Amino acid sequence: MNPVNTKPYQLPADATWFVTGCSSGIGRAIAELVVSKPGQRLVATARNPSSLSYLADDNDAILKLALDVTSRTSVEKAFKAAADHFKEFHIDVLVNNAGYELAGDTEATTEDEMHDQLETNFFGTVRVATNATRVMRQSKDHRGGVIFNISSLAGVAAFPGQAFYHASKFAVEGWSESFARELHPDWNINFCIVEPGGVKTEFERGSKRYTGVHEDYDGADMPGRQLAAWVKKGLAAGAGVPPSAVAEVLYLVASRNDKVPLWLPLTSTAGQLIKMKLQARLENLEEVKELTPIDKK
Ligand SMILES: NC(=O)c1ccc[n+]([C@@H]2O[C@H](COP(=O)([O-])OP(=O)(O)OC[C@H]3O[C@@H](n4cnc5c(N)ncnc54)[C@H](OP(=O)(O)O)[C@@H]3O)[C@@H](O)[C@H]2O)c1
Repeated sequence: MNPVNTKPYQLPADATWFVTGCSSGIGRAIAELVVSKPGQRLVATARNPSSLSYLADDNDAILKLALDVTSRTSVEKAFKAAADHFKEFHIDVLVNNAGYELAGDTEATTEDEMHDQLETNFFGTVRVATNATRVMRQSKDHRGGVIFNISSLAGVAAFPGQAFYHASKFAVEGWSESFARELHPDWNINFCIVEPGGVKTEFERGSKRYTGVHEDYDGADMPGRQLAAWVKKGLAAGAGVPPSAVAEVLYLVASRNDKVPLWLPLTSTAGQLIKMKLQARLENLEEVKELTPIDKK
């Protein structure tokens, strides 16, 4: 398999960051961090640009744009507006962050609900990353860039009661890894699949969407309900890291003049759970090793 991200990445002193979902949470924390760094430029996007009022209006290094990742037209319009605004337009860092979680029982999920989840978290990520890749690829000097696709611990390990959220993030992981391997190394485009654990944002509050309740899954002994109760307890106890911690580490990865990791689990819990998942897969390989080699028979 061809290796990815083999060379150290150097963040330009006048780098332009393009961030989706800047109205709250991780996107907002990244926007706030980028504008605090002298020389860095920011394209901050949100479905409703009035949610970006925390960013200055009179700073040439900041461009605020409307962008709904579910709309191809909206994405293309935002990229055009950014290119028109900055004289020598380039995107150095994309943070593909917009997303939400659909929670609930699979058997109670409507077609619209499941499609909306994939449309935002997966196809939205694809639309924005593809446009950013074109801009990075066409840079004259192989300036390249970094594409942070915000996946999740939920993009590697799956838990009950949020199957379509997992499907969307597993899709982000598979697509990002494959697309990263399509690129010529000389283009210097570095994908980083970010896998946070719990982050204290609107994610578990205002942004979360729920399917209807399926009566056959509604018992306290059902795995989905048990997990939901455990998560609720953790949230009440203050579990999770602040979004600024995610922003700091993404800035570090982009700016430390080192190779960009293809996968970046964030929080020790996410690291442990991903390790458990991978160990389970190794054990499974052992368990089925008599059945696996059908090509050798
Ligand atoms: N918080 C966690 O524990 C956690 C853990 C792992 C991964 N993540 C991932 O981190 C990312 C950011 O979430 P967050 O925790 O910062 O939650 P958040 O505070 O709810 O922020 C989500 C952002 O996504 C935006 N968004 C949703 N749908 C959109 C669309 N169609 N087009 C453009 N923007 C849209 C929201 O904008 P509006 O204001 O317009 O709704 C909001 O700005 C998500 O991809 C999430 O899956 C979060």
